[in-house]
Parts: sequence; C-alpha cells; structure tokens
Amino acid sequence: METDHPRLIDAYHRQLNYLRISVTDRCNLRCRYCTPAQGMDKLRHEEILTYEEIVRVVALAVKMGVNKIRLTGGEPLVRKDVDTLLPCLTRFPELEDISLTTNGIYLSDHLESIKASGIKRINISLDTLNPRIYESITGFDGFHQVWSAIHKAADMGFDPIKLNTVVLKGINEKDVIELADLSKTYPFHIRFIEYMPGGFVDPGARLCHVPNSTLKQRLSKYGRLVPVPRADMDGPTVRFKFEGAPGEIGFISPLTHHFCETCNRLRLTANGHLRPCLFSDWEVDLKTPMREGADDARLARIFLQAALNKPRSHKLASTPSVSLSGKMSAIGG
Ligand code: 5AD
Ligand code: SF4
Repeated sequence: METDHPRLIDAYHRQLNYLRISVTDRCNLRCRYCTPAQGMDKLRHEEILTYEEIVRVVALAVKMGVNKIRLTGGEPLVRKDVDTLLPCLTRFPELEDISLTTNGIYLSDHLESIKASGIKRINISLDTLNPRIYESITGFDGFHQVWSAIHKAADMGFDPIKLNTVVLKGINEKDVIELADLSKTYPFHIRFIEYMPGGFVDPGARLCHVPNSTLKQRLSKYGRLVPVPRADMDGPTVRFKFEGAPGEIGFISPLTHHFCETCNRLRLTANGHLRPCLFSDWEVDLKTPMREGADDARLARIFLQAALNKPRSHKLASTPSVSLSGKMSAIGG
C-alpha cells in the first residue's frame, strides 16, 4: 500500500515544490565567478549519487509535493551516460516542469536525447557574444560551440531557451546591450543575474556585481521595456520584453532584491545531501541513510528536517562578510 508522505512546507509556510539536482560537481569550464584559480577537490565516483539513487529521491520528493526539478552541475552534460537519466525523470506525471542548466559546450551532441526524453526547457550560460571575452571569463575558447548549440536547440523546437548572463563590472558590462538585443531577433529569454560573491573565488580577482537596476536603466535607452505578467513558475525572475520583440529580458537580483520570502527551492547536492539554502552551509545527508537501507518514511523525515532548516532569508547585501560558502559548481547554482 502507498504510504502518505507529508508535504514539504517550511517553518515560514513556504511550500518547497522545486528541487534542484546537481548531477555532478565536475565542470569542463572554469568561470571566474564560479571557480577558484587553484581548482577544487573533486568528489570521488562512489561519493556521487547513482542515477538509481537520484530517481529514488525524486520519486519521494514528488510524493511530498515537488512538481518542478532542474538538473544542474557542475556541468550536467559531463557526467557519463547522463542521457539515460533523463527519461527516468520525465516519466513522473506530477512533474510539471523539468529543465536543464548547461554551459552549452557539449550541448549539441545531447540535444536529440534531451528532446526524446521530453525535456523542453534549457538554460544556457552565456556571458558575452565576444569570443575573446568568453574565453577570458570561462577559461576556454568555446563561444562558437555554444552559439551553434543555441541555434540548433532553437531549430529543434526547444522553448523557452534561456540564456543566463552573470554581469561582472568592467568585464562583460558592455556586452549586456548586444545580449539584450538578441531578444529582438530571437525568441530567447536573456536573463541577467547579479554576481554573488563566492566563498572560494579568489578575492584578489576583485569581481564586482552591477546592480540590475543600473542595467535596466541602460537597456531602456535601446527600446521600451514592457513588463511581462508573472507566471506561476517564474521564481525570482522579473520579466520584460522590448516592445514587439519575440524574446524576453529577465532580471535575477539576489543581491539588490531579496526574493527569499517566496523561495520554494531545495537542493540535492552531487554527493546526496539536501541543502535548503544556497547561502547557508547547513546540509543534511540523505545518501548515507539511503545506502544503509533506510525506507521512504525515514528519508521523508530527512526531507522534512531539511525543509525545517531552511532559513527565512540570506543577508548577502547587508553583511559583506556573508557570501556563498561553497563553490557554485559543487552546489548546483
Ligand atoms: N553569481 C551568480 N551566478 C552564478 N552562477 C555561478 N556562479 C555564480 C555567481 N557567483 C550561475 C550562472 C551560471 C550558472 C551555472 O550558475 O548563471 O550560468
Ligand atoms: Fe561556469 Fe557553470 Fe562550470 Fe561554474 S559550473 S565553471 S558557472 S560553466
């Protein structure tokens, strides 16, 4: 008989219906805003959840009210046979939204199987349209590869295609106009994400965010930005369109605009821990009990523990000493 599991509701009455799953901590790029100059220790193979374990966690999460998942990394497409995981996730009818975040380097080769699995939504990291600046940010001369994958995905009918841009002061600030301009020609959603200071990023790099309000003001000179009405699954993105454009512009402002109040996320790390907040180190281990034979009722209690430990908000903007405490690529962004 099917046991009823409690819903994932936290201490502040937020329904946690969105699970972000990091399928690997590894990444083929070294984005300046994400990775330290000297690299990071990688998890050993046996420390990473198997695909069977991920599917089991998702099956339980779905019974507890999760209806939206996103696969992240590191870079999800570097994990061996990741294509075999996708159809195991799309078979849950309760999941209304399944998406993938990728840096796009290996995307072209995976598009067929992503499409066949039923996933329609992809987010691709793209911080510039200038190949030299791309290389200076990511450490790899890969712009053309990503650009052609974006077009192939569009031709294959993926929709929406979201392009994620982290704007760094003095580095790709000027590229924002060109990127936003893409929305006038293509149905892409260009999303500007404020850089979040990371615990492991070399402080000597002196990376700085640009407030999204500044970007919006600058973009307004290139066309009238019309607000797009909020949809249920929007999350923290504030959406606009240039009048008459096929695509959209989105602003995600973790630094200057708190959206903790409506945060509905839990994260499953590559090594099988649940992390309720990106900005807090607190995690609870799901993998060890699972490997020791825990039944679903026990795993459900661990899920609830994670929900109840979700902090009300982060203090990123008001406390300069608070920053991301782990490498983004390990936690899954
Ligand atoms: N600040 C903001 N966004 C970040 N990402 C990674 N590191 C940071 C950071 N320090 C996001 C980017 C990237 C995705 C994988 O994670 O959007 O595209
Ligand atoms: Fe860049 Fe994403 Fe890889 Fe981090 S995980 S280095 S942001 S591509």
